[in-house]
Amino acid sequence: MTETLGSLHYAFVHGVLGASRLEVLTRLSWPSSYNFLVSQGVREGMSCLEAGCGAGSITRHLKDFLGSDGGVTGFDMDEETIELARKKFSDTSGVSFQVLDLEEDGVSFDQQFDVVYCRHLLEHLADPETSIRKLSRYLKPGGLFIAQTIDCEGQYCWPDNDAYQKSAELLARIIDVRGGHSDCGQWLPSMLRKQKFLHINIEVENLVYLEGEGKQFVPLTMETLRKGLLEEGLLEKDEFRQLLSDLRQFCNQPDSVVSLPRFVHCAGRKPC
Ligand SMILES: C[S@@+](CC[C@H](N)C(=O)[O-])C[C@H]1O[C@@H](n2cnc3c(N)ncnc32)[C@H](O)[C@@H]1O
Repeated sequence: MTETLGSLHYAFVHGVLGASRLEVLTRLSWPSSYNFLVSQGVREGMSCLEAGCGAGSITRHLKDFLGSDGGVTGFDMDEETIELARKKFSDTSGVSFQVLDLEEDGVSFDQQFDVVYCRHLLEHLADPETSIRKLSRYLKPGGLFIAQTIDCEGQYCWPDNDAYQKSAELLARIIDVRGGHSDCGQWLPSMLRKQKFLHINIEVENLVYLEGEGKQFVPLTMETLRKGLLEEGLLEKDEFRQLLSDLRQFCNQPDSVVSLPRFVHCAGRKPC
């Protein structure tokens, strides 16, 4: 499959590897995403626009949560990713997908939604505020805008480890070099305020792991950044190989502790 222009602005690799990383991310962080949605008033029967839906791993949970009377419309800029999502939902009603680049394409939906949900999308956008404005047009009056994004400054490990520190810096750097904002979580509430959302709420979590899938997510993330890091000249192939090997070794030590970036959940209500 040829690479779309949009993919060049995205830090992670798409395709099967990218989608399998997002499956892991979903297993790690859907429970807290779900709790935040519930706390903000999302409930069964609602309609949801899921922006930057990837291959649909969160879509599955959203649809189960919203039930047979609720629906999810997902969009993502990457064609191959949307193909993967469509295959997963070929026999599910109430779910549909579109290929759409929020920053490049005209946005047009034939309905307004109860909820607009963006999970780990805004940090990849050059101008998240304009995108929030575009999306809020498709929110019903009184509807909920909910986003989950990152703040890369929240990354830490124990004990100090060069490979972990370097990987953490590269994660932030590649997001920024590709035109996004690795600290987006810090100013997310102010963007909602500027868009005149009401009842703005924020919750911050820092997932920290001693073992298991969460700990292995750190080297997995590096694998999905390999292509971008090499393309941007942030590392040479040999340096990448060494870094990944050192990082895996650190993450395989039973006593080492690693965190993911801070996840920032934020919600606001569109005025009626
Ligand atoms: C980190 S993934 C998150 C996927 C999913 N929301 C989740 O939480 O698992 C970000 C997704 O946003 C998509 N994306 C990035 N920039 C986009 C844009 N300008 N328009 C639409 N989708 C975009 C990427 O293709 C990718 O699938």
